[in-house]
Amino acid sequence: MPFKRKIRQAGIAAAVLALCSGMPPAAVAETAATHAPAGARPWMNVKLGPAERADLVLKEMTLDEKLKLVMGYLGGDADWKKFKRPAEVRTQSAGFVYGVERLGIPHLWETDAGQGVASQAGPDARQATALPSGLNTAATWDLKTAYEGGAMIGAEARAFGFNVMLAGGVNLAREPRNGRNFEYAGEDPLLAGKIVGAQIKGIQSNRIVSTLKHFALNDQETGRTTLNVKIDDQAARMSDLLALQIANEDGNPGSVMCSYNQLNGVYACENSYLLNEVLKKDWGFKGWVMSDWGATHSTIPAAIAGLDQQSGLPFDVSDYFGPQLKEAVQNGWVPQSRLDDMARRVLHPMFEHGVVDHPVAPSSDAIDFKANAAVAQKDAQEGMVLLKNADRVLPLGKSVKKITVIGGYADRGVLAGGGSSLVYPVGGNAVPGLEPKSWPGPVMYYPSSPLKAIQKRLPQAAIAYHDGTDPAAAAKAARDSDVVLVFATQWTAEAMDVPDLSLPNKQDGLIAAVAAANPKTVVVLETGGPVTMPWLPNVAAVLEAWYPGTSGHEAIASILFGEVNPSGHLPMTFPASESQLPRPKLDGYPQVQDQRFDVTYHEGAAVGYKWFDLKGLKPLFPFGHGLSYTEFALSGLEAGVKDGVLHASFTAKNVGKVAGKEVAQVYVAPVDARWEAPKRLAGFQKVDLKPGASVKSSITVDPRLLAVFDSASKTWNVAEGDYKVILAASAADDKASGVVLRLKAASYDVNGKPLTPLR
Ligand code: BGC
Repeated sequence: MPFKRKIRQAGIAAAVLALCSGMPPAAVAETAATHAPAGARPWMNVKLGPAERADLVLKEMTLDEKLKLVMGYLGGDADWKKFKRPAEVRTQSAGFVYGVERLGIPHLWETDAGQGVASQAGPDARQATALPSGLNTAATWDLKTAYEGGAMIGAEARAFGFNVMLAGGVNLAREPRNGRNFEYAGEDPLLAGKIVGAQIKGIQSNRIVSTLKHFALNDQETGRTTLNVKIDDQAARMSDLLALQIANEDGNPGSVMCSYNQLNGVYACENSYLLNEVLKKDWGFKGWVMSDWGATHSTIPAAIAGLDQQSGLPFDVSDYFGPQLKEAVQNGWVPQSRLDDMARRVLHPMFEHGVVDHPVAPSSDAIDFKANAAVAQKDAQEGMVLLKNADRVLPLGKSVKKITVIGGYADRGVLAGGGSSLVYPVGGNAVPGLEPKSWPGPVMYYPSSPLKAIQKRLPQAAIAYHDGTDPAAAAKAARDSDVVLVFATQWTAEAMDVPDLSLPNKQDGLIAAVAAANPKTVVVLETGGPVTMPWLPNVAAVLEAWYPGTSGHEAIASILFGEVNPSGHLPMTFPASESQLPRPKLDGYPQVQDQRFDVTYHEGAAVGYKWFDLKGLKPLFPFGHGLSYTEFALSGLEAGVKDGVLHASFTAKNVGKVAGKEVAQVYVAPVDARWEAPKRLAGFQKVDLKPGASVKSSITVDPRLLAVFDSASKTWNVAEGDYKVILAASAADDKASGVVLRLKAASYDVNGKPLTPLR
């Protein structure tokens, strides 16, 4: 098989804050820290800072103990002929790293990932709460929701006995066919970085560590272990790296996971530019870099280039950071000081985030799945995007007498994305047996039936379900219904991309046939990302429900019936066709095992809507788009520089009849200077408004979003000139308003700290 993970798993027997400061850390079930007298173990003194504590304990460690901290083992079953499986590994986990018990340093138990505590297939799969997909959380444009989701899944991770959560995926959605877009946070560095930073903060509020991943530019799954991404420093710093940088600043993750791909000819996990220079030197990252599973390729080059911990043995060919690293250190090929640095980097976040002082112990009986499902439901409700709503066909009234529900296994559940991030739900797979059954499958439907949630709301109505396999029969059944709800799905997964943006399994034909029979057709999409919609002009409404998680049925029904007013806005552009993309054909597709190829990101930092603006292309739905059951007016835009920072203020008013939430977006466009694209998102604010109410908001603009990065001097520079500040409800809003203001030249260091401030 072409996918590294699949090769590795082929032989597996059991298929295999406070963000808004002041926010209290999530309630956590934990065992009390046992503090030895500070004299005996001075590093256990909680009054000391993490750096001092790490140094103190490091001094006590033998060479072998330091080496333990830098070697990670696979959590799941594997072929352990060559290496010894640690007895302490938790079943159904992603990874394990030995601590140094003698000195009170706990083992690291690692679990995937961003939607909740994941499992692999098998009878012992753990049942946990699944958040909706990462793209849904990004579509909330709400940092509080992202934080709360992180706090909830982090609490479950702790309760299941994990102290490292491999979450924090923020690869930019540069490629809409990427099979992992559902795990990430969309195409804009500001929105994605902020959302994922908030989620990491929520996870770590449980006194565990979260990763930030995949570092960097692993933006497609096709050939992910063999491809070489080509992009220059400036474009990378202003796009993918900026998203990671913002998430790192806001989330302060304990660990960063380097990715499978090569960047400019060097594997990411032995890429000194990425690890030593960008991450550690420029951004000042103090935690540890762990490799993705199977992404370590050497001992000396990787250690010298900045990799601190190998992960997932026996996923890799060799135990590079085991005996080989010991030999390298003993011979001075890898300096002792570098091994100390590696171990110190593992220890620092363990002290900083509470992993040492609050050891984990499985206590999953205490998990309140009902309360956690409510957290997942709120996230789903905030992130679903109403794309079209002609003649206000939605929300559905209680007077509806006859509904036909078609397709998408809506009688049984809601879809989830596949791969290592897959959370096994409480109640098990609602639609077992779909292909692929093995990695990156199984295809999973959570037992959360939209049909039942709809029936519950209309007990007197005639509600029929058709599975949609026979379009003519479905169309016939739909003909005399008051409204037709077609559920359309697109399964996407890790280790594979979709070939194109069409709905699979002839669902376009089904929708077209149904819409021809009954114009009151509402399409509910459960997709990993954007899809094309050839039937769009003929349907009445479209709701993008993403992968809606554990409580997807209730979230969907509550929006269809207007109990919740939709307020999600697209975190990525929905193209009208693949021909509009920077790469109309996906590089390396279809995947051929071990085939090496380059992917050249010639679009540079012009990702998503920036590319569409630059080329004057009209997407199917623009970035930022999202309808509501009410109407909003955005007005009163004012912008100016105060204390070296660009501020914009505006008023949002609910001019409709029901309460709702609007996402006000502020873009900046240079009039004189040339950027990678005509405009960039510079700020956003989600506001909750009763009918007739208005609220004044203000945002401040991160100076990096007004600047161009200069690689030679490692500075962000704002060019003197006129800039248009735009207030809009999407990247292509025809009601947008703007003000022009003149900025003097200003310059900032690599982290956006002022050298010469804005005026
Ligand atoms: C994925 C990571 C994941 C790791 C551990 C890899 O295949 O790329 O995102 O955290 O496996 O399961």
